[in-house]
Amino acid sequence: MYTFGLAGFPVGHSLSPWIHEQLMEQTGVEGEYQLFEITPENFDEQIDQIKKQQLDGFNVTVPYKEKIIPYLDGIDASAEQLGAVNTVKRTSDGWIGYNTDGTGFLHSLQARFPDLFHQKINVLLLGSGGAARGIFAALIDQAEVKVDVANRTVSRAEAMIAETGGDHAARAVTIEEAEQAAGGYDLIIQTTTVGMSPNDDTSIMPLQNIKEGTVVSDIVYRPVMTNFLKEAEQKGARLHFGHEMLLQQAVYAFQIWTDLHPEAHPLLEKFERKLKGE
Ligand code: ATR
Repeated sequence: MYTFGLAGFPVGHSLSPWIHEQLMEQTGVEGEYQLFEITPENFDEQIDQIKKQQLDGFNVTVPYKEKIIPYLDGIDASAEQLGAVNTVKRTSDGWIGYNTDGTGFLHSLQARFPDLFHQKINVLLLGSGGAARGIFAALIDQAEVKVDVANRTVSRAEAMIAETGGDHAARAVTIEEAEQAAGGYDLIIQTTTVGMSPNDDTSIMPLQNIKEGTVVSDIVYRPVMTNFLKEAEQKGARLHFGHEMLLQQAVYAFQIWTDLHPEAHPLLEKFERKLKGE
């Protein structure tokens, strides 16, 4: 019997309990997934309470991904690099923190387009927030990518690139420059909050210049089909959806906790219907 949970504020609308119940069903394990809504003023006390429970692991969401770190006994390399934790596991060495953002994204992209990283590709990453940082770190670990990062605030893109160090050929560009050069990218990843419900009718950048067959990814999952993806589809792009990443991240957390390997693919359609309220 496993017990998992989610610590954050607010957590009432989280999809994680539903996803993890599906993963438990698929792998035939018994367990439950609890929600821990922690108010900022009681964080200290409530995290201590959570750690005293018979939990195998828990997810951490907004606004505590950074704040949780001093309360843990160790963090893995990805969490260390990003300075943020979204998955915690109880181990014989204590509570260990992980960050599944980048790997979850990359795994879901590779599941959909297995050949994508087989040759050198040009990537455009839109945004420089928390989600972008995880994805950027995972991307530059791939030998054959050249990444341009475009952000409304270009200095944030520059800072994100500088932070990672290494000898990758990433550069910061303006959104206008990215729009002009869009025909040169093989993969475009949208990580900003623009287009997220209730602002469904907005889009970070027009896609009129992209070439057919470009892989266009939007990590926004409400709505499932964002304006950005709609335009990409009209231009003959191949689409990658935000809920694919979300599901793959949960699969990865479940793997960390249980050492079992559920598959995201069989759940995708059901998850999409749930998100669309069908
Ligand atoms: P998260 O951690 O969820 O990624 P974040 O750190 O608030 O969230 O980052 C949000 C991203 O969306 C940033 O890249 C932000 O651009 P800035 O760095 O210029 O703020 C981008 N973003 C949010 N609202 C935007 C808007 N109206 N136009 C363009 N970019 C926007």
